[in-house]
Amino acid sequence: MGLEQEIEALLEVERFEPPQAFREKALWSDPSIYEEAAADPEAWWTAQAKELLDWETEPSQGLDDSNPPFYKWFEDGRLNASANCLDRHVEAGNGERVAYHWRGEEGEERDVTYADLHRDVQRFANALRDQGVEKGDVVGIYLPMIPEVVVAMLACARIGAPHNVVFGGFSAESVRERMEFSEAKALVTVDGARRKGKTAPIKPAVDEHLGDLGSLETIVVVRHTGIDCPMTDGRDVFYDEILAAADPECPAEPMEAEHPLFILYTSGSTAKPKGILHTTGGYLTGVTATHRYVFDLKPESDVYWCAADVGWVTGHSYIVYGPLANGATSVMWEGAPDYPHQGIWWELIERYKATILYAAPTAIRTFIKWGAEIPAKFDLSSLRLLGSVGEPINPKAWLWYHKVIGAERCPIVDTWWQTETGAIMITPLPGITTTKPGSATTPFPGVEAEVVDESEGEPIDEGQGLLVLERPWPSMLRGLFKEDERFVETYFSRFGSERYLVGDAARRDGDGYYWVIGRIDDVANVSGHRLSTAEVESAIVAHPAVAEAAVIGQSDEDTGQAICAFVTLRGGTEPSDELVEGIRAEVAKRIGKFARPKRIVWADDLPKTRSGKIMRRLLRDIAEGRALGDVTTLRDPDVMAELEAKIAEEQDED
Ligand code: WTA
Repeated sequence: MGLEQEIEALLEVERFEPPQAFREKALWSDPSIYEEAAADPEAWWTAQAKELLDWETEPSQGLDDSNPPFYKWFEDGRLNASANCLDRHVEAGNGERVAYHWRGEEGEERDVTYADLHRDVQRFANALRDQGVEKGDVVGIYLPMIPEVVVAMLACARIGAPHNVVFGGFSAESVRERMEFSEAKALVTVDGARRKGKTAPIKPAVDEHLGDLGSLETIVVVRHTGIDCPMTDGRDVFYDEILAAADPECPAEPMEAEHPLFILYTSGSTAKPKGILHTTGGYLTGVTATHRYVFDLKPESDVYWCAADVGWVTGHSYIVYGPLANGATSVMWEGAPDYPHQGIWWELIERYKATILYAAPTAIRTFIKWGAEIPAKFDLSSLRLLGSVGEPINPKAWLWYHKVIGAERCPIVDTWWQTETGAIMITPLPGITTTKPGSATTPFPGVEAEVVDESEGEPIDEGQGLLVLERPWPSMLRGLFKEDERFVETYFSRFGSERYLVGDAARRDGDGYYWVIGRIDDVANVSGHRLSTAEVESAIVAHPAVAEAAVIGQSDEDTGQAICAFVTLRGGTEPSDELVEGIRAEVAKRIGKFARPKRIVWADDLPKTRSGKIMRRLLRDIAEGRALGDVTTLRDPDVMAELEAKIAEEQDED
């Protein structure tokens, strides 16, 4: 039987029990943990907080729900996140343990130990203070996947300066916007970034777009690629120089549990990104507990690899805070999955004997396309657990992951969560849960979810509805940075302040398993990256030839969804290949290359309601070749017929 047929055959197998050998050694193998947590979630989370973290002052209470939806957790407790990630491991004699096996694009290797991080974080924390950064000041971080990004984040945490990390794939213009909204006082960036053998100058782009930003007093530059970079006197400093000049000792300052740890901008329904705010004690409790129990982490023996980028929440929670709080040894890879060759991931797993791999379905689908013979060339026998995150995983990809990468030996944890939830919410527990390919299974202990109908919010037993979370959890967002009203409006207005509106559609099967379907708002999920269609639209209309644009996330075999733009040109402008490239370049400049539309449909007009609202639902229908839904509310129903003709023409050309 070929692989293809074997996977077809496995599709018939609907359930996968945790392997006996795994269950026997698992940290959690007794399902009574769910009942224990459900009996008193607040007490259970408080016990987790005390057991998993080092507190300067232990909290005397759990949840404060006196002012919903502005919830607080462990309010009178005091702790420092960087001390929990570093000092306590060093003090316990584990300073020589590797925190990150870092591997650079050109094959460079650096093993960064807990003691190394502890040393550099103290110095960098002092250096930031020398630059005038104080508790409460926001520090931007715009760095590639290098160990310095972890040092920068933890140095901020050490002195109570909330960090605002921007994914390296965003353009400098996006960075500017995020620095401006968060009133950042300092920015830590890099001379240049490497990508597949090329070096992109970063600092000059930062200068061009952020040079005049009033709040920004300091720009710290990490010398990574060694390219020449312009420095402005009195504002710009080199990371290595200020590190060398700084006092080596910086005792961790205990923070209030509710002190802001970071802001992370993510996409919402409008063009303006939302500054998701997380605080210290609750967030750290959530990520430490989930990282330990979802990945069954044994810090002495595991080598864990989360193949995300630190610039997204997955990186914050499961490359930095969760793994370090648990004293884990991780792999950190600077580059792309196909450089220097398409087997690099498997080479790294063999090289570092990784035991746990946490990746996005889009990566798995890419590997399927490249062929099973590539991973087959490497020794993957060290792996014992696989994870998936960022988008629904289709059963075929799940089974390929299970068979080709996990050799049918490794449980798969399909973890559902969001930037807002801080930590994993719906997931299997690998020593307990029987998994079903395509389902994230059930809520983590202490978490309660529900699927409800759109209008009344009544729980639905069968069929699709809106996913909600029923009860506050410690790692939940505390708000949107300086936008309280928008926070309430986005998450807590539809069904009141005691039920968190997720923004995803889901269904629940007869076993109570959750199947997340996708976003219900105008957020597209491209390769596991969250993008606002409104943000892409506003980048496209910035092109001088464009009159109007409507953007949708269209289903895509490789990337889950892909950006498809319907564009109306200004009078007299003829469509051309140059225009396609021009529009794509505009999006790359304003947001980042990853947001460029894959497909552009020239539209003389767009379907609008009588009040002028673009009906994206209809555009999604025709882009994906479905029968059109109700068109009677359109101002001009003929528009759809014209667009359908356009799409048919496009297909003829293919
Ligand atoms: C989607 C990423 C199905 C979902 C951690 C959610 C998923 C959005 C899964 C959050 C999963 C994430 N199955 N869908 N396992 N994980 N999603 O904020 O639509 O970048 O609302 O956080 O990704 O994306 P975000």
